[in-house]
Amino acid sequence: MADANVYPPSAEFVQQANVKGIEGYRALYQRAAEKPEEFWGELAEQELHWFQKWTHVFEWNPPFAKWFPGGKINASYNCIDRHLTTARKNKVAILWEGEPGDQRMISYQELHRLVCRFANVLKGRGLKAGDRAIVYMGMVPELPIALLACARLGITHSVVFGGFSAEALKTRIQDLEAQVVITCDGAWRRGKEVRLKDAVDESLTDCPTVRDVIVYKRTGGEIPMQAGRDHWWHELDEGVSEICPAEELDSEHPLYVLYTSGTTGKPKGIVHTTAGYLLQAHMTMKWVFDLHEEDTYWCTADIGWVTGHSYILYGPLSAGATTMMYEGAPDFPQPDRFWRLIEKYRVNIFYTSPTAIRSFVRQGDQWPNAHDMSSLRLLGSVGEPINPAAWEWYYKVIGKERCPIVDTWWQTETGAMMIAAMPGAVPLKPGSGTLPLPGVIADVVDLQGNLVPANREGFLIIRRPWPAMARTLWREPERYKQQYWERLEGVYLAGDAARRDEDGYFWILGRVDDVMNVSGHRLSTMEIESALVRHPAVAEAAVVGKPHEITGQAVACFVTLKKGAWGDRHALAEELRKWVGHEIGSFAKPEQIRFTDALPKTRSGKIMRRLLREIVTSNSVTGDVTTLEDLDVVTRLAAQHDED
Ligand code: WTA
Repeated sequence: MADANVYPPSAEFVQQANVKGIEGYRALYQRAAEKPEEFWGELAEQELHWFQKWTHVFEWNPPFAKWFPGGKINASYNCIDRHLTTARKNKVAILWEGEPGDQRMISYQELHRLVCRFANVLKGRGLKAGDRAIVYMGMVPELPIALLACARLGITHSVVFGGFSAEALKTRIQDLEAQVVITCDGAWRRGKEVRLKDAVDESLTDCPTVRDVIVYKRTGGEIPMQAGRDHWWHELDEGVSEICPAEELDSEHPLYVLYTSGTTGKPKGIVHTTAGYLLQAHMTMKWVFDLHEEDTYWCTADIGWVTGHSYILYGPLSAGATTMMYEGAPDFPQPDRFWRLIEKYRVNIFYTSPTAIRSFVRQGDQWPNAHDMSSLRLLGSVGEPINPAAWEWYYKVIGKERCPIVDTWWQTETGAMMIAAMPGAVPLKPGSGTLPLPGVIADVVDLQGNLVPANREGFLIIRRPWPAMARTLWREPERYKQQYWERLEGVYLAGDAARRDEDGYFWILGRVDDVMNVSGHRLSTMEIESALVRHPAVAEAAVVGKPHEITGQAVACFVTLKKGAWGDRHALAEELRKWVGHEIGSFAKPEQIRFTDALPKTRSGKIMRRLLREIVTSNSVTGDVTTLEDLDVVTRLAAQHDED
């Protein structure tokens, strides 16, 4: 592997690393592959606090797994209480900066008080283990505080990203049959207030299960409060006890549900449980982020996505880290906000997305170069494939060729990192997630399940259960089975195309299903199509991902209209774009809307998305079109210019 594009760790990095050298990695990997029960059992005992030990490590009734059955545990206790008897008690747990520049530093002891108080607030509203809370907040410390309070009592939380619209919020509240919604009056984004509570009010028109709405005051904007239903956080919290013991919950108690886009119009409620999830989030923090006691660690994700759950909240706090949170936009008030934050707080480990990196490249090197970022020692990337050019820029301009970059492949469904380098052990190749982590048996296969030869494209699969795996889809166990485990008997089909090179390194090539990845956010083509056809002007819609220089992919829509006078096409395209924003959220707004007389379909009536993808990519069509109903349509679409 002595080629120019391989970056082995420096001797200096190896020396201080938690896992040293490739032998260190191989020993762990081999042990986990050969003796998974011993491997995970020992880690569970050493690394987590148990109220009661489990009876066995895992139970596997494909595709349903249980990890550490018989055990009693609490995630909130593991993230807070157990650190209070150590030197970490006065360590900063959450280091926060608001978009306007306000700061908070919450120690583990302070976090304990805040979480206990809010857990008592929830108790006071009659909430208990097994109930569900929808959390729709901006990036303020009260968001993780609310989640830890839920976890403390066994209330299953479900965070809905603040960028989702009232409509999207409503379907999630209804699906989960939540008893409580926890929100903010608003959040700051590029100096403007995002009115979260208004969206909650709009969503609650048809949600009979919701008894209470708890509102944390962040922006101070005027909001209506509905008597009996809506309560201010600070009022409920007044005079509440700071003592609230953590519930002793089963290992498999559902910690959270997180909705993610699937291949149908209906989002999937990914269910994560407690012990296995926490263990893998905790271990990957140590292995992949090479976490040390003195590190200041910053993951720039939003807690509305799984990355924020596992690597702002549960992983870092369980491991006793200082985890940083920033409320606002990366380019506010100027494009150097992130670099300013790194300099100011002397951040050591920085984890962000390829889309963010590509937009930094575009803004120019003068922004990072104006800051002293010599505190950085490790960089990370997640959410989408990182192109080698962006990798090289990140390595040189941000890391000054000193910091390894861990490119981490995982999914909402996997709960924690699966393929990623241990930075003191595994030589890096720009654009590759490198090797699977201990306990992860990954392969690249064809549709018959046969291994494909080195460097050939195939489907990424995982062969054995892993601790943080999704247990099911919320109230849809059949869909869980069918989506991930049936196409190839007994193995987990990730939905990504990949290849493995001659060194066994994994190169993730992107989704193979009808899921797009826009700025690292998963969007379903079906979900956007269903939103479009709900508009009175639209007869049919087909949505595909279009390659995009910054966001990886962008949303491109082909729309046929119902008969009628729909006026100016540009105005209608703009209206449809807004409509999708209203139905799903502004981050799902299409970049391109093309009107057409008909969509290309096979004789059986299936829309030929492959052709549409070719059209948006190259404006031409090649390959087999013999099954097309009306070939004319394709030629016309390809010839037509964008309606934009
Ligand atoms: C993609 C985010 C390439 C992939 C943690 C996956 C990646 C989907 C990487 C999951 C990576 C995530 N390299 N592709 N390092 N990380 N992906 O559920 O297509 O929001 O299936 O989880 O993002 O997205 P999700």
